[in-house]
Amino acid sequence: MAEYTDIRFPAGFYWGTATSSHQVEGNCTKNDWWVWEQEGGHIREGGVSGIACDHYDRFEEDFALAQGLGHNAHRLSIEWSRIEPEEGQWDMAEVDHYRRVVESLHRHGLTPFVTLHHFTNPLWFRDRGGWLNPQAPDLLARYAGFMAKELGDLVPFWLPINEPLVTVTACYIAGYFPPQRKDMAEAMVVAKHILLAHAKMYQAIKEATTHRPQVGVVLSMSYFEPKNPDSPGDVAMCDAAEALVNQYFLTGIDKGIFPPPVGQGEEAPGVKGTWDLIGLNYYSRTLVSAEMLTKGAYMGEPPPDAELSLMGWEVYPEGIYHLLKRLAQYGPPIFITENGTSTQDEDARCRYVLRHLWQTHRAISEGADVRGYLHWSLTDNFEWAEGWQQWFGMVSMEPGTLDRKPKPLAYLFRDIARANGVTAEQFGKYVG
Ligand code: GAL
Repeated sequence: MAEYTDIRFPAGFYWGTATSSHQVEGNCTKNDWWVWEQEGGHIREGGVSGIACDHYDRFEEDFALAQGLGHNAHRLSIEWSRIEPEEGQWDMAEVDHYRRVVESLHRHGLTPFVTLHHFTNPLWFRDRGGWLNPQAPDLLARYAGFMAKELGDLVPFWLPINEPLVTVTACYIAGYFPPQRKDMAEAMVVAKHILLAHAKMYQAIKEATTHRPQVGVVLSMSYFEPKNPDSPGDVAMCDAAEALVNQYFLTGIDKGIFPPPVGQGEEAPGVKGTWDLIGLNYYSRTLVSAEMLTKGAYMGEPPPDAELSLMGWEVYPEGIYHLLKRLAQYGPPIFITENGTSTQDEDARCRYVLRHLWQTHRAISEGADVRGYLHWSLTDNFEWAEGWQQWFGMVSMEPGTLDRKPKPLAYLFRDIARANGVTAEQFGKYVG
């Protein structure tokens, strides 16, 4: 058990929250998720994103709230299907909308971190084969270059693709996100395309603007361990999960190759070194067993005595420390681009964040160059296949009016952000 003391974060540390267009804006009617939700049967309790948090119209209010809560940064995504509703046709009214959004961030003292692809695809892209289409990297790069040309003067941090390996695993292996494929061969093709897309988007952004933005990856990483370290099957499965989910993009970009299991280490053209920063999304540890393959389980089973979020994910703060230490070996600075928990126990939410900040600070004190912490998320929002049955926000919304109501974490986080650190008293109150 750690002895909690006062901790301080490096000067200029970024504090804020992360969101994504489809989960908060409302009425993203031109993407594959919207249409899939309308089919019914896919989302828990028949949920649909609908008007979501109405953030499309309430962004000013949300950014004022974030500013009042001490934040100095905010991560959001641009909805590709709004910008390019038909192939090759740019909707300039939507471009203006996002310009106002990003201007508003600056007015509220929030440094923008902009993601360009956060799971959702325009319908035309889906109809052309989506990520299986060999032209996918070029189509994404054209969009990225266009956005960087339009907003390059306002956006210092670009994160082209959110969690590329979630697209590979959830959409093409486990099949619980659209297009619901369970096909390993297809998944390997998608994994190649998405690495190339990242690199081409990186280059397109750099070429489209003279404002010298930082461009990087956002990787969802779990702390994988074999369920039974003495079982060769569990160890092998754990190594396989590790290689694909955690390591594929890291090695791919570090060395400019398609690493196993996607390739055999052959050159991935244009990929080497296409990162100025590494974004880490961390939520949980995964105990991997050999049965995961036969059972088709995606997340492993947590240990019997583990504290769980409502997602069923184990609360395991040490994992973020180990992953940060590993990421630190690659060179680029690291940002925590998502971390948070779904719960309705507000003490547990505060405790979760404090314990992850402690482990983050531990990695920093051992040399990891971590520059920011963006909490998932600002408001409770549409949690994909889980619909409205998860609560990740530091702010809740009144049913009906959608009026924002900060939860206890929002105030705790405000004090932490303003002080750029956590006190032993704050730890004592929530962590004990
Ligand atoms: C991430 C994802 C977010 C959010 C979060 C909580 O994987 O980027 O969109 O849903 O998980 O599950």
